[in-house]
Amino acid sequence: MFGKLFTRSASGRATVHVEPFGWTFEVEAGQTILQAALARGLPWPSRCRVGSCTTCRCCLLAGDVRTLTDASYVLSREQLANRVILACQSQPRGSVRVHLDRAAATLRRDADPSAAAADASVPAA
Ligand code: FES
Repeated sequence: MFGKLFTRSASGRATVHVEPFGWTFEVEAGQTILQAALARGLPWPSRCRVGSCTTCRCCLLAGDVRTLTDASYVLSREQLANRVILACQSQPRGSVRVHLDRAAATLRRDADPSAAAADASVPAA
């Protein structure tokens, strides 16, 4: 079941499902989860965008990602064991389901999470 659910489409896109917000958005081949989320206007927390601040971290609940940099320098053993990933350094290998801390995702005051959630459910053109 999961093999089919968490594979990339023929177009190379993958789908990211974000809990507890219910956001669902497409990630193009070569794009990171953070890049795709920000392109949709989602209030995903981020600062450095190069894998050093851990602001974009989330927990990988299902699926697999390709990591662009070694996160073991910035994440603890416990975080790594609990499948914490850096969204700015993670490209989905197929569709994935992640958990983003609700408090962290509301840090940006210039974003409207309700509007972003509505936009996120619209498939990419
Ligand atoms: S934004 Fe800094 S580690 Fe991802």
